[in-house]
Amino acid sequence: SDLSLGAYDSYMSKEIDEQPAVLRRILKHYFPDQQLKINNQLLQQIAASDRIYIVAAGTSWHAGLVGKQLFEDLTDIPVEVQLASEFGYHLPKLSAKPFFIFLSQSGETADSRQVLVELKKLHKLTLTITNVENSTLAREADYSLALKAGPEIAVASTKAYIAQIAVEAILAKAVGENLHLTTAQSFDVQQQLSLAASAIQTLIDKKDLIEQLAATYFDNQESAFFIGRGNGYYLALEASLKLKEVSYVHSEGFAAGELKHGTIALIEQDTPVIGFVVEEKTAELTRGNIQEAASRGANTLIISTEKLQQKQDQLVIADLDEHILPIAAIVPAQLLAYYVAKKRGNNVDQPRNLAKSVTVE
Ligand code: G6P
Repeated sequence: SDLSLGAYDSYMSKEIDEQPAVLRRILKHYFPDQQLKINNQLLQQIAASDRIYIVAAGTSWHAGLVGKQLFEDLTDIPVEVQLASEFGYHLPKLSAKPFFIFLSQSGETADSRQVLVELKKLHKLTLTITNVENSTLAREADYSLALKAGPEIAVASTKAYIAQIAVEAILAKAVGENLHLTTAQSFDVQQQLSLAASAIQTLIDKKDLIEQLAATYFDNQESAFFIGRGNGYYLALEASLKLKEVSYVHSEGFAAGELKHGTIALIEQDTPVIGFVVEEKTAELTRGNIQEAASRGANTLIISTEKLQQKQDQLVIADLDEHILPIAAIVPAQLLAYYVAKKRGNNVDQPRNLAKSVTVE
C-alpha cells in the first residue's frame, strides 16, 4: 500500500478508510482460487489441542477477546485470552495439549516475546499472527500467519485490529472444517467479510455525521463511558482505548451489566455514555443499562445493528453474523476518537507518551 498521505491529514484517518480494502486483501490472500488455504499441519495441530490460549497486549488483546467466541463456536475447543504482561510471570496450570496463538501487529512487543520464550522452554506449540511477516515473534513461533493489513503508521491501531479479527475468523473456520464440524462448514466467512467491507464503507461515507456527534457529545467533556455485553463489551474496551489514546479524554470500557455495581456513581449531567447494542440475546438488557445511565443524566449514544435498531439509535451497522460484526461496529468508535482528538488539536498519529511498538517489559 501507498505510504504517502495524499489528501489525508493523518495516517489514522487514512488507515481507517483503508479498512474495506484490507478485508478484500485478506480474502485474496487466504482464498486464492476461492479455496481456503492454510498450512494443513498447523490446522491439525490446533484441531488436536484441548485448549487454545490467545496471548496479546493492547488493541491486539481486544481482538483476541473477540476471537474467543469465534474459536469456541467454530472449533468447539475452549479458549482463554491472556494479557501478555500478566501471563508470562503467572502461568496458570496449563491444559494437557495447549496451543498458543500470539496476536501482535508489530511482532516485536516485549511482553509477548517474553511469554513466547517461556513457552518455548516448555516445548509448547505456538503460532504468531502478525502484520510484520519477518518480525521477531513471527520468526520465533512454530508457525506464523500474515495479517495483510499493510504498514500501519498511526500509533493508534485501527486496520490491524479488524485484520486480526478477520484472520481469527478464517483460521477458526479452517480448524472447524478440519474437525468436520457443521457449524464451521456452514459459516460463510468469505461472504461475511465481504459484507463487512461494504458495511464499513457505508459508515465511512457517514463521516460527517460522526464528526457532528463527536462535537455534540464531547465538547467540554473530560470523561466518557463505553458499555456493552459479550462482543459489545469487548468493543467497548477497544472503543474506550481508542478515545483515550488520541483524545486524552478519560474513559472506561465497561460490561453494561456491571456499571450499576459501582461505576455508575461517576455518571454526571451530560457524561457521554456510548452503548453497543450488537448482540441479540442481550440487546434488551443492554438497552436497560443504557437507560439507567440516561436517567442519571448521561448523554447516551447508541450503536446498534439493522436487526436490533430502535428509532432513537444514532448509528446503525448493517446486519452481519454476530461473530463478524465487531469488525464493522468498531469503525464509528475509531472515527469518533479521531474527530474528538482532531478538534482538540492533538497529534493523532503520534499521541503523547505512546509508542507504536513497545520493546521493553
Ligand atoms: C503498543 C501500541 C498499541 C498496541 C500494543 C500491542 O502499546 O501503542 O497500539 O496495541 O503495543 O502491540 P502489538 O504490535 O503487539 O500488537
